[in-house]
Amino acid sequence: MKTIISALLLLSIFASSSTLVVGLVSCRPDQIQALTHFKNEFDSSDCNQTDYFNGVQCDNLTGVITKLQLPSGCFHGTLKLNSSLFGLHHLRYLNLSYNNFTSPSLPSGFGNLNKLEVLSLSYTGFTCQVPSSFTNLSQLSILDLSHNELTGSFPPVQNLTKLSILKLSYNHFSGAIPSSLLTMPFLSILDLYQNNLAGSIEVPNSSTLSRLEFMYLGLNHFEGQILETISKLTTLKYLSLSFLNISYPIDLNIFSSLKSLVMLDLSDNNLLESSLDSHSNIPLSLEDLVLLRCGLIEFPNILKNLQKLEHIDLSNNKITGKVPKWLWNLPLLRKVNIFNNSFASLEGSEEAFENSSVRYLDLAFNSFKGPFPKPPLPIILLSAWNNSFTGNIPLATCNRTSLTVLDLSYNNLTGPIPRCLSNVQESLVVVNLRKNNLEGSLPDMCYEGALLRTLDVGYNQLTGKLPKSLLNCSSLKFVSLDHNRLGDTFPFWLKALPDLRVLTLRSNKFYGPMSLPDQGPLAFPKLRIFEISDNNFTGSLPPNYFVNWEATSLQRNEDWRIYMGDYNNPYYVYEDTIDLQYKGIFMEQGKLLRSILTSYATIDFSGNKLEGQIPESIGLLKALIALNLSNNAFTGHIPLSLANITELESLDLSRNQLSGNIPKGLGSLSFLAYISVAHNQLKGEIPQGPQFSGQAESSFEGNVGLCGLPLQGSCFVPPTQQPKEEDEEEEEDQVLSWKAVVIGYWPGLLFGLVLAHVIASYKLEWFGKIVGPDKYKQVDPVRLFMTLDSRWDSFNNKNNVEQTKK
Ligand SMILES: *[C@@H]1O[C@H](CO)[C@@H](O)[C@H](O)[C@H]1NC(C)=O
Ligand SMILES: *[C@@H]1O[C@H](CO)[C@@H](O)[C@H](O)[C@H]1NC(C)=O
Ligand SMILES: *[C@@H]1O[C@H](CO)[C@@H](O)[C@H](O)[C@H]1NC(C)=O
Ligand SMILES: *[C@@H]1O[C@H](CO)[C@@H](O)[C@H](O)[C@H]1NC(C)=O
Ligand SMILES: *[C@@H]1O[C@H](CO)[C@@H](O)[C@H](O)[C@H]1NC(C)=O
Ligand SMILES: *[C@@H]1O[C@H](CO)[C@@H](O)[C@H](O)[C@H]1NC(C)=O
Ligand SMILES: *[C@@H]1O[C@H](CO)[C@@H](O)[C@H](O)[C@H]1NC(C)=O
Ligand SMILES: *[C@@H]1O[C@H](CO)[C@@H](O)[C@H](O)[C@H]1NC(C)=O
Ligand SMILES: *[C@@H]1O[C@H](CO)[C@@H](O)[C@H](O)[C@H]1NC(C)=O
Ligand SMILES: *[C@@H]1O[C@H](CO)[C@@H](O)[C@H](O)[C@H]1NC(C)=O
Ligand SMILES: *[C@@H]1O[C@H](CO)[C@@H](O)[C@H](O)[C@H]1NC(C)=O
Ligand SMILES: *[C@@H]1O[C@H](CO)[C@@H](O)[C@H](O)[C@H]1NC(C)=O
Repeated sequence: MKTIISALLLLSIFASSSTLVVGLVSCRPDQIQALTHFKNEFDSSDCNQTDYFNGVQCDNLTGVITKLQLPSGCFHGTLKLNSSLFGLHHLRYLNLSYNNFTSPSLPSGFGNLNKLEVLSLSYTGFTCQVPSSFTNLSQLSILDLSHNELTGSFPPVQNLTKLSILKLSYNHFSGAIPSSLLTMPFLSILDLYQNNLAGSIEVPNSSTLSRLEFMYLGLNHFEGQILETISKLTTLKYLSLSFLNISYPIDLNIFSSLKSLVMLDLSDNNLLESSLDSHSNIPLSLEDLVLLRCGLIEFPNILKNLQKLEHIDLSNNKITGKVPKWLWNLPLLRKVNIFNNSFASLEGSEEAFENSSVRYLDLAFNSFKGPFPKPPLPIILLSAWNNSFTGNIPLATCNRTSLTVLDLSYNNLTGPIPRCLSNVQESLVVVNLRKNNLEGSLPDMCYEGALLRTLDVGYNQLTGKLPKSLLNCSSLKFVSLDHNRLGDTFPFWLKALPDLRVLTLRSNKFYGPMSLPDQGPLAFPKLRIFEISDNNFTGSLPPNYFVNWEATSLQRNEDWRIYMGDYNNPYYVYEDTIDLQYKGIFMEQGKLLRSILTSYATIDFSGNKLEGQIPESIGLLKALIALNLSNNAFTGHIPLSLANITELESLDLSRNQLSGNIPKGLGSLSFLAYISVAHNQLKGEIPQGPQFSGQAESSFEGNVGLCGLPLQGSCFVPPTQQPKEEDEEEEEDQVLSWKAVVIGYWPGLLFGLVLAHVIASYKLEWFGKIVGPDKYKQVDPVRLFMTLDSRWDSFNNKNNVEQTKK
């Protein structure tokens, strides 16, 4: 009878749906009603109704709801104090993870659900303290409150004696850990990673009661005494202790009692180096050892004893000399990360290295010299960027049939890009050979089914044409061919790549028209960064050139974590990088850059021989933040539609033959930090507004007809005075060009910037004129590595790669 009623109710809920949900059949009507009420408390428009009700389970005999699992991202809104959820007293399993509730705090109503055995509230956006009512949840075996904004002292869990899993990581809990925690009879997983917990913990001498196997205490402020306690927790298998608040170096022998230890993370601690030599006593069971940023200066010989080791992370230390050859003989070693040290070479014969079992190898940011060694056979990831490797890319690379990431950028490699790389096209996702001295033509690397997403061969000496086979790499997102000697016509055919986001051909010998007679719009479907500057492109662009660029409809994307041509796994993240050379763009630690790659757009056509009008359709590219059309032969008026690109931060139209007025509408572009229309044939008044008057005069010079701020003289100067002023200008220009010669040996872009600065300061002195404060930081040219934070940090600490390579 009950079943029939509930089935009827169900039908009324799903009046329009043809799917009947299995999980609900055994539920009591009042329970279904409560569930429907609960759903209606939220905006659940993003919610798949079928999934929602499928996540429900009722008891076959009594019909009460015992399990509720919300699909992620289902509900939006506030979880109220009196929510119908807290009437479901019989719940034993409740998982609301990944539903971002906007409630300020965790409602105390959870304390009513005292039959709960599993409660998962990770990624739910809750803030404030955990209410004391949680002590009521005495049946809990799993409690997951991780990845929220919870504060206050350690939550009241001491009485939850059935707990086996407790996850509080990525919150803001502070104070000490209650000592009873470590001896809770069933607790085996304790994850407190990244909080503000401090102090030390005492455990009774008879710690045999502890069942802890997994303990993540890293990124807190625990004191050194905690080590004493931990050494008694002999059941531990996984231990993370990064960033302890401890003044003396840690002696690794303290862990000798942890005979079952599999994983140890001591990152960001000061270690006693002598305890890392081969006589030390650390658990031989270790498979995974992370010693990141431990200030090590010598290779830890203790590794020699760890025959079970699979993963070693020594990145961001200061180790010099050779990587010892015995490392490659560890039988199970698969992942080696020695990123950012000062290693100079690999010890021993090439064979030892080649025959090792290593699959993920990061040698980047060291001082390796000489020829590049034959990589190990089963290698999947080979990162060796920013070293001084010389010689050819070894052909043996091609026989590594699992090779997925090949990053040899910023070395001194010569010779051709091996043609045989196409042998590994079934696995290759990233090829980055930027800033070497490679020559020859770009080989065919793609056949049908190739996976390549990133191809960066910028700053080499490549010649010849682009292989049409690139079209077979239909996953390509990032193609950077800048600063080579490639000589080809514009590759219109690349439009067929459905996912191409970045294309830079800057500084090559490309030539010919940028628009074909019958072609109309260029319409790259997803292009966001498009740079063809400093080539020999010609012709004019039709007015509809920028119509149908899908990227134009892009919206500001809050989530930077949507990667592009990237690759990542738990041990390695590859992110695409690009040199952005637009004046006036505000950069902060690669953050903006990351969002540029995902949601903004930039276009640089400068330094070509393009002519005719600037296409009016440029105004459709709403996501543009930088546009550089300088140094061409564009004629006609500045398109009014530019005023529609409201995100624009940098606009350079200088050195063309543009005539007419500067459109008044440009004065309303509120993000514009840099504009130059210098050396055209513009006339009339410069639009007034803070963005314009804050620019240097040099941004407007070379246009005889322009007047108004920031140029000297008002727009209503009596005509008789005009010639005199021009004389003065001329004298000035002579002085300036003399200064320009003096500083002329500065590298190209820097030159432009320095010159502009000289002009600005010169005029400042001469006329005592106040130039508006530059509220945007000018970083130009910029090279930012969008990489792991650690990579970024270390990059900041070392010298800029570009500078050192110059
Ligand atoms: C909802 O999810 C079910 C199964 O999980 C699926 O079959 C159905 O297509 C989804 N409905 C919508 C509208 O996404
Ligand atoms: C309840 O019903 C489901 C299927 O309808 C079944 O798999 C399960 O074993 C039943 N449980 C009990 C306790 O009868
Ligand atoms: C809760 O649900 C999420 C997905 O929504 C899942 O990843 C997680 O494992 C679940 N937690 C538990 C304890 O079942
Ligand atoms: C919860 O309380 C608010 C007022 O504070 C009331 O409007 C709402 O109907 C109540 N909801 C339930 C489910 O009782
Ligand atoms: C949750 O929502 C709030 C407010 O809408 C937002 O600020 C926050 O970034 C969101 N958090 C997540 C993880 O989505
Ligand atoms: C704890 O559970 C009892 C029922 O066992 C209930 O009466 C009480 O209100 C709950 N306390 C809190 C704070 O929710
Ligand atoms: C734990 O339970 C004991 C007795 O059962 C009680 O005295 C104590 O107050 C409880 N502790 C907390 C933090 O609720
Ligand atoms: C633990 O044992 C040590 C000696 O082994 C003793 O000094 C200490 O007082 C004991 N601590 C407790 C809490 O019993
Ligand atoms: C690659 O492997 C093939 C056989 O699998 C072998 O004949 C060839 O010599 C190898 N090439 C290199 C460069 O190692
Ligand atoms: C790279 O090679 C060039 C010439 O072959 C040399 O001038 C330069 O010093 C080398 N750079 C490094 C870092 O070894
Ligand atoms: C550009 O092309 C013209 C002929 O079309 C040629 O004379 C000139 O040298 C080229 N310039 C460059 C920099 O390649
Ligand atoms: C700017 O955009 C609006 C609507 O998006 C359009 O109506 C208008 O014509 C555009 N202005 C110019 C000058 O293109």
